[in-house]
Amino acid sequence: MTIPVSGLRPASASGLDNVVAAETRLSHVDGEAGRLIIAGHDVEELAATHDFEGAVAALCAAAGLDQAPAGEALRAALGEAREAAFALVPGLLQLAAGAPITEGLRTGLSLLGDEADAPDHIRLLGAAAVFTAALCRAAEGKAPVAPDGQAGHAEDFLHMLRGEPASAAEIDALNAYMVTVSDHGMNASTFTARVIAATRAGTVSAIVGALCALKGPLHGGAPGPVLDMLDEIGARENIESWLEHALAGGARLMGFGHRVYKVRDPRADVFNKAVTILTNGNERVRFARDVEVAALAALRKAKPGSRIDTNMEYYTAVLLEALGIPRDAVTSVFAMARIAGWTAHVMEQERVGRLIRPQSVYVGPWPDGRAAA
Ligand code: ACO
Repeated sequence: MTIPVSGLRPASASGLDNVVAAETRLSHVDGEAGRLIIAGHDVEELAATHDFEGAVAALCAAAGLDQAPAGEALRAALGEAREAAFALVPGLLQLAAGAPITEGLRTGLSLLGDEADAPDHIRLLGAAAVFTAALCRAAEGKAPVAPDGQAGHAEDFLHMLRGEPASAAEIDALNAYMVTVSDHGMNASTFTARVIAATRAGTVSAIVGALCALKGPLHGGAPGPVLDMLDEIGARENIESWLEHALAGGARLMGFGHRVYKVRDPRADVFNKAVTILTNGNERVRFARDVEVAALAALRKAKPGSRIDTNMEYYTAVLLEALGIPRDAVTSVFAMARIAGWTAHVMEQERVGRLIRPQSVYVGPWPDGRAAA
């Protein structure tokens, strides 16, 4: 391509591959080694030693928010935020009646103002849990369950969702999930949040925009289709023919492939372990593993040289299904946790204080009839 006027060149074919868009102290993704570091911890270690509140505190500290509450103070602040958000639920349920859960969450978060006294990350985290639980129940014709401000965040979410207490194993599994997905480098939704934050639009606006980016099936919208795939395959004898037919038709297998990981996504292993403990390796989990093995073989055959491996969304689907999260709500539960990372990135970006404004290369016609580049 010739670029006659500006001399600018596209950063990559079309997806900004390998472009460094920010410096961050929050997380690091090593796609060749299959390693994820969050706030100085390997993800496996963080998930084994921290609950969700611990991960939020670690991310705030890494973002340089020295005054952010941690420990019991954070647990209490999140409890208060959930209670405050519950007052907005009746209005939200009217506005979002009949909408998919993630769109309902998007509407709900938009109800929060950009200017507020309470710390943004705590308001948003509290509201996301309350809204997601209430929207799920409303979809089943059930009344919302009020939060318990004294409970842990994951524990209270499961209680608000079901109307009855969750077991310790379920609470541990949800904490492991939420910690593991709390941040992940410069993914599409985090980049969106940082672009919006850089305009000084405010944290709520940045997080609503990030949620919009997350909900697409190439990003955080994959788990629902993963479960649809497992259901459609149905039985072991159908696995190979179903996969072969799907790939021959040009379909993408949901839960496989990643822009950065060229080996197995380490988060898939955290979730595989968590769901095995939670379900004692039940038939659904064993079936999902068999489909995974066959899918990797089919992808290697159909896309030789593409280095496509399992991404975290595959076992997210299986884990959150085992926790009784409705299929339609999986992306919202992902957002409930990722808000920890998004808000920390917003804090970092606000400290940078510079507008993010790349360039494009004009390839259209010129008024003087000159040929397009
Ligand atoms: N199934 C089938 N083929 C695939 C898959 C897949 N899951 N992933 C990539 N490919 C193929 C593409 O079709 C393409 O083939 P081609 O060269 O013959 O056209 C080749 O591999 C390269 O694909 P790209 O789209 O260039 O790779 P990219 O880095 O953009 O892909 C992505 C990353 C979007 C995640 C892709 O792997 C995909 O669509 N996966 C399925 C959706 C999914 O699981 N999303 C969740 C990602 S994890 C997350 O965001 C939390």
